[in-house]
Amino acid sequence: MSTQSARRYAETLQALPYGSSTNSKAPRLPQVEPAIVVRGKGCRVWDLDGREFIDFRNGLGPISLGYAYPAVDDAIRAQLADGIVFGHPHRLEGEVAELACELIPCAEMARFLKTGGEAMAACFRLARAFTGRDHIVQIGYNGWLNSLAPGGMFRPSEALTGLAPGVPAALAQLHHACGWNQLAALRELFAAYPGQIAAVAVAASYADMAAGTTFYPALRELTRQEGALLIFDEIVTGFRVATAGVQEYFGVTPDLAVFAKGIANGMPLAVYCGRRDVMALCGPGGGVTISSTYGGEALSLAAAKAVMGIYRDEHVCQFLWRQGETMWGGLNRLFAEHGVPLALRGFWPCPQLTALPGAAADLANRFLAAAFAQGVSLYSVSYVSYSHTDADLAEALERLAPAVQSLA
Ligand SMILES: Cc1ncc(COP(=O)(O)O)c(C=O)c1O
Repeated sequence: MSTQSARRYAETLQALPYGSSTNSKAPRLPQVEPAIVVRGKGCRVWDLDGREFIDFRNGLGPISLGYAYPAVDDAIRAQLADGIVFGHPHRLEGEVAELACELIPCAEMARFLKTGGEAMAACFRLARAFTGRDHIVQIGYNGWLNSLAPGGMFRPSEALTGLAPGVPAALAQLHHACGWNQLAALRELFAAYPGQIAAVAVAASYADMAAGTTFYPALRELTRQEGALLIFDEIVTGFRVATAGVQEYFGVTPDLAVFAKGIANGMPLAVYCGRRDVMALCGPGGGVTISSTYGGEALSLAAAKAVMGIYRDEHVCQFLWRQGETMWGGLNRLFAEHGVPLALRGFWPCPQLTALPGAAADLANRFLAAAFAQGVSLYSVSYVSYSHTDADLAEALERLAPAVQSLA
């Protein structure tokens, strides 16, 4: 099959590495996958050929409410009439910081950047300045800027095999990768670098989120004992597992946290927030420079204000849990009925497609291809949004039944 999308995608590769600025978006199956999309509405996207997909990628996370969600788009349009970015602090900047402090337990102060990775880098600088230590331990992927540790994650589910090309060894030596729920390995790092670790940053492992029940409290205790800061990467978990992410869900408060995907329904905005005594270091007299022309860009802040208001006033995360259970529980039943050794594991708002013992190496990809062919767009981690109605999920499961059957 040669689609317009696939042909145009092949052409764009001449000008655009990966055919996308986001490595994870590059189509692995360009003949069936929507290689180029042109539009989204609610829970559906359309590709260059006009094919419609019920979409569970949600922009790889940020579309928490749905594509072109009216209340958010209205807020963006209203702000557009009044200007995008200013040479003075805009009213919305303080308002959204106050909202973040209201909603997020660790947030005594909050500030804005554009991407999750950039905001994590800001937290690392704050932690180093606060502790006077240089080393950082990272559990999981924290954005490309921070993919520095040999063996660390350079994508949410892919580890570096050695030193990352383009990263000086002297810099890499200050970063250490540690696995999810690997307390013993973490203790060894603290023993190997006594008094030198500024912070432990943790992004959850989606397939095994339940381990957070014991892992997060243990991380809190260990970092406190060792005088290191604890930083939660809530870029995916925030506004999804619970409004304030894993810190709300598991009841463990970090020193600093980053929220990004989910806070502005797709507009580019990241919040770094946390303890006043740490955050104050990037304020006047604190000595730590973190600053960007676009941090207070008003269209994204208008979107964030609308999104945060909806999360505060409606039970969005409860809805994501319930719809996730319907969708992924339903898909798991299809896999089981047809004896296909795949399963969605983890929490319903952000489960991971997992190959079970006995699965062929290419089974997950064959399933994703079969799903695309039926008009359903999934990913290794798939998400329901606030726009996935019961009828949409019933239709998605109906479309997926023959996809699963074709693998049986
Ligand atoms: C857990 C996690 N942390 C950090 C990032 C990086 O965020 P951004 O792509 O906005 O820099 C991602 C992006 O996928 C992520 O999933």
